[in-house]
Amino acid sequence: MNILGISGALRKASTNTGLLRAMKEMAPAKVTVEVATLHGIPLFNEDDEAATGKPQAVRDLDARIRAADGIVIACPEYNFSIPGVLKNATDWLSRGGSPFRWKRVGIVGAGGGQFVGTARAQYHLRQNLQALQAITMPRPEVFVNHNEQKFDAAGNLTDDETRHHLAKWFESFLEWVEKKP
Ligand SMILES: Cc1cc2nc3c(=O)[nH]c(=O)nc-3n(C[C@H](O)[C@H](O)[C@H](O)COP(=O)(O)O)c2cc1C
Repeated sequence: MNILGISGALRKASTNTGLLRAMKEMAPAKVTVEVATLHGIPLFNEDDEAATGKPQAVRDLDARIRAADGIVIACPEYNFSIPGVLKNATDWLSRGGSPFRWKRVGIVGAGGGQFVGTARAQYHLRQNLQALQAITMPRPEVFVNHNEQKFDAAGNLTDDETRHHLAKWFESFLEWVEKKP
């Protein structure tokens, strides 16, 4: 099974990208996890789209989504919602036939402090993905708060309890992707 993780954060030491790396490490042998980022995707502009079509970075991501059996989006929370880079990417991807159509998508997220661990952003992303015709896993869910205590300075997951919870979530996700209940 081939899983594509998409990080909604651009920074090098992103804890959301770190969640996806942790998933890659814990994947069973029959599962491959690739991690994609949104670097290189320009701001959506309908004039640019009309003039030159989808940028290469969008076409590459589109192809990777289509090729995947399941997708995990690691979604940071910015000002109680989805980061602009992630919303921008989904706007590009939605054009000319969404690659998310009927795809199974899981959502996870890590945020700072004692906030609600990206819950608000994740629910906005669910609404967004509804428009793109994705099938999102209802639950279990992963909301990591206090990420400054649970990841190291490079964005690697160091907290055992979070790793354990993530592993259980990932197991449920893989079963849901495979069995398509
Ligand atoms: C512009 C901005 C807005 C933010 N707003 C929120 C927020 O609403 N809720 C929250 O939990 N964290 C918020 N944060 C903190 C992020 O959760 C934190 O920076 C997190 O580490 C970002 O994810 P990353 O580690 O993957 O880059 C905000 C950060 C930035 C830069």
